[in-house]
Amino acid sequence: MTKPVNGFSKLNKEEKINWLAKNYLNNNDAAISVLKQYWNEDQELQKLHDEFIENTVSNFYLPLGLAPNFLINGKYHVLPMAIEESSVVAAASKAAKFWGERGGFKATVLNTKKIGQVHFLFQGDPSKLDVFVTNIKPKLKEAVKPITRNMEKRGGGILDISLINKTDKLENYYQLFVNFDTRDSMGANFINSCLEKFAEVLQEEANKNEDFTKEEKDLKVIMSILSNYVPECTVKAEVSCPVDKLSEDPNMSGKEFAEKFIQAVRIAEIEPYRAVTHNKGVMNGIDAVVLATGNDFRAVEAGVHAYASRNGDYTSLTHAKIEDGIFKFWMEIPLALGTVGGLTSLHPLVKLALDILQRPTANELMEITAVAGLAQNFAALRSLITTGIQQGHMKMHLMNILNQNKATEIEKEEMVEYFTHHTITHSSVIEQLEKMRS
Ligand code: MEV
Repeated sequence: MTKPVNGFSKLNKEEKINWLAKNYLNNNDAAISVLKQYWNEDQELQKLHDEFIENTVSNFYLPLGLAPNFLINGKYHVLPMAIEESSVVAAASKAAKFWGERGGFKATVLNTKKIGQVHFLFQGDPSKLDVFVTNIKPKLKEAVKPITRNMEKRGGGILDISLINKTDKLENYYQLFVNFDTRDSMGANFINSCLEKFAEVLQEEANKNEDFTKEEKDLKVIMSILSNYVPECTVKAEVSCPVDKLSEDPNMSGKEFAEKFIQAVRIAEIEPYRAVTHNKGVMNGIDAVVLATGNDFRAVEAGVHAYASRNGDYTSLTHAKIEDGIFKFWMEIPLALGTVGGLTSLHPLVKLALDILQRPTANELMEITAVAGLAQNFAALRSLITTGIQQGHMKMHLMNILNQNKATEIEKEEMVEYFTHHTITHSSVIEQLEKMRS
């Protein structure tokens, strides 16, 4: 049984690896080599990565792929996508090409409010608290001036502060609910710094407020933190085309395709088991762009799924209909993204990804990212209602299996040829590879 370790963070990288190898990897040299194999020779670059997080022992690579031909609001983009799953980039590229030939994607930012809360307990008269909060608002805003000055120069800042009474849900529980505009930054640090200052002022002012009783003066801040639920920081992505231009399959009419597609979306709208997988497909596109551009995919995931269940049931993020012979497919989602601050100026590949996207504003990145999600969902549904998902997936999977089994280039070529006419399964690939090798 391994003992707990003290002072692990104080060990240098080599010592951390040695400790790991000794205690968890049977002093396995090969395992140590794997970790070291991913160190970057460029010491400065490696140091940069080491310092992104704590206790770094190696780098963890994800492939960065490109999905070209995305026509969005009349302008072509190539999307950088960081993702480990095969087929996703290919599917995005295919959907981009398909919709590029049909007028492209339209995307519109609907609103850009970010939210933060100071959660506190107040034991006393709610109407007195109401008056108190109204009175101290100028003081709250004044106290954060050093933090908001720069943001205000860029046109952002605090939009409004309100008091929310939640005592019907939790005894004595109130919030300062604050709306922010953080312009091109995701704004987490900015928001949290403002909130912590608000909390300080709130408590201090309550303490010296002569209209309050002793209990009321003892207002207790529990925590101050931004919310990753941003239902008023949303973007709409959409495509449309005449129904008869929809199918590329001679065995399926455009109408038939549209009806089947709409039915597939309806199922995700009313069926949570399907909705989760359906939305996972949307997130394949979104997360890949969010990651490549150095944004916080956990925040985006948490916010998007909360939004998908905002009416009480978990449901599809995307919707589709036919109107006057036109097929329409669209999605509205919350996306709090930044193109300045955070990793955006630190990680060389993130900087490059933003260059590839022609240095978008946060709003433009919201539009591009939403389109990636819509395209991905279109591609997935198109496969599901026509050939089935496995055909495309397994083709890509074939390469993974061949690589895992160290197939040579010649073996790969022969195997790809063989499996154009045979069904790909893990065991059939291994069997055929063994046959070829013997
Ligand atoms: C796989 O990563 C994503 C899909 O399952 C999405 C879907 O079912 O719509 C193909």
